[in-house]
Amino acid sequence: MSPTQDGVDDAVRTLRRGGLVAFPTETVYGLGADASNAAALRRLYEVKARPADHPVIVHLPTRPTVDATVGRWGAPLTPAARALAEACWPGPLTLVVRRGPAVLDEVTGGADTVGLRVPDQPLAQRLLRAFGDGVAAPSANRFGRVSPTTAAHVRADLDGDVDVLLDGGPCRVGVESTIVDCSAGEPVVLRLGGLAPERLHALLGSQPAVRDDGSRAAPGTRPSHYAPHAEVVVTDAHHANERAAALLATGARVGLLATTPPAGLPAAVAWLAAPADVDELARQLYALLRRADDDGLDALVVVPPDPTGVGAAVVDRLTRAAATRTPERTR
Ligand code: TXA
Ligand code: MG
Repeated sequence: MSPTQDGVDDAVRTLRRGGLVAFPTETVYGLGADASNAAALRRLYEVKARPADHPVIVHLPTRPTVDATVGRWGAPLTPAARALAEACWPGPLTLVVRRGPAVLDEVTGGADTVGLRVPDQPLAQRLLRAFGDGVAAPSANRFGRVSPTTAAHVRADLDGDVDVLLDGGPCRVGVESTIVDCSAGEPVVLRLGGLAPERLHALLGSQPAVRDDGSRAAPGTRPSHYAPHAEVVVTDAHHANERAAALLATGARVGLLATTPPAGLPAAVAWLAAPADVDELARQLYALLRRADDDGLDALVVVPPDPTGVGAAVVDRLTRAAATRTPERTR
């Protein structure tokens, strides 16, 4: 397929004139703008309906060395940042490092750090290489909605506000990148994500602290992110029937997201099949949460996977979704 046919040329022209391009990454779809164009970044925040003090990740093309990749975006990297970048880029890892002098405040939300990531997705890499510079991109959903893992999800949330949508099919990982703050002192995990915690442990020689309470990161660590409209109730397999029955008794339309439907599950409960393989579950997670809404469910009882590998991020997202109580969901 030539670049013209799959839209990369058009996407690059769009970025150059300050437009917005939705593109696939291995984690979730991103909504990209030229990271060096303040006006384009302001439009990005507007379309996302995102507060201006929330930083966005800069996506970079792979280059022969980590230094060439980071270029003017980050100040000299700490040894830990360098080790992680060398081992994990391209891949589902965002590094927060001290920002380079030329990085716009619109990217960092005014902070003295910047989040950098090299996505491992062929269409994303072709776009970034052809563009030749950093593309700022949050997930391509409206602020507070579940991240999109297909082009159809992007259309459902942002249709009309995106100038070009590159369709790379469903995302391979399905949950957002792991964010590690390497800007000062010991590396700290700000968001669990597509990179297995076990891998971080192996690369750093110890398990980094997780500080995902929002004290050092902004929006993606707030509970309301990752929540569908349906109320999410996380429970274990033994209590799933009981919880579902109690919700049914309130008149709610109830679904169960679990690998197998437990014996005795009330017939009125819609079973959403969760893949037994945790990587496959991560891939399908956001589509399943969107389906709960599309099916008109008021409540979704979820039996989470083991928190190993990408399962840690899946459990994290489900727990955050379950902690959310928004007015529209207290029906
Ligand atoms: O997988 C991903 O990371 C996807 C794809 C598109 O790359 N992007 C993504 O972006 O999830 P977004 O904006 O939805 O979430 C980025 C998170 C936010 O919680 C933001 O606060 C945090 O990264 N972040 C970005 N720059 C930061 C910085 N300098 N310091 C602390 N947190 C930062
Ligand atoms: Mg997001």
